[in-house]
Amino acid sequence: MRLVLKLSGRVFDDVDAVSAYAHMVRDLASDGHALGVVVGGGEAARRYIAAARALGSSEADLDRIGIAATRLNAMLLMSALRGVAYPRVPETLEEAIAASERWPVVVLGGLQPGQSTTMVAALVAEATGTRLIVNCANVDAVYTDDPRTNPNARPLEEVTLDELEALIRGKAHAGTYELADPWSVAVMRRSGISMYVVDWRDVGRVRGVVLGTERPGTRIIPRLHGSD
Ligand code: UTP
Repeated sequence: MRLVLKLSGRVFDDVDAVSAYAHMVRDLASDGHALGVVVGGGEAARRYIAAARALGSSEADLDRIGIAATRLNAMLLMSALRGVAYPRVPETLEEAIAASERWPVVVLGGLQPGQSTTMVAALVAEATGTRLIVNCANVDAVYTDDPRTNPNARPLEEVTLDELEALIRGKAHAGTYELADPWSVAVMRRSGISMYVVDWRDVGRVRGVVLGTERPGTRIIPRLHGSD
């Protein structure tokens, strides 16, 4: 597997976007690319997590409900990729690794409570020797602060994992993970994995970033060039 594509769950709120990503993944696979595609929970996860929270469910159950939503989205995409994608949604890392040895595309959602699908993307990348995650996110870049609340927030072209970690500190609750959780940062750091952030709405740009013809919104790199 040479690339892990992480799709925001928001993609699954729009069937045309799901179709566009299915076409892109199919084209990449037929050009010889091997891909892991990890998908988020989107509206289904938000809705069910909110309902379960109102019912007083535990944090662990909220996560398990979120995982079920991500797997439903994964099944939707996988069903549009018959013939190129492993025809199941792996429920363990071992299953994902085994599937990646036999299929050009493996589509998965969540794996276990206490993390986001970005952690799944990091674990799948690490386990398959992949050095790059393209995160098709609900933001177009990493910003110095939240651009929705701070008009002075600036997009960053490149950040290190240390800088990203400082930006996301204190946001790990079910349904609130944005770009990454602290665990995914740790996995990317120990295995030297980079992550490119691109807005999921711009499928053409995502394709260009995958092919190396366009620049991502932000490159998240393990450490500064030249420092070790
Ligand atoms: P995500 O937070 O990753 O999907 O998973 P999302 O909400 O669609 O976010 P983006 O747009 O992809 O970033 C949904 C929820 O599922 C649970 C968490 O509660 C998470 O908030 N989850 C997901 C897990 O508990 N474990 C996993 O391995 C993955």
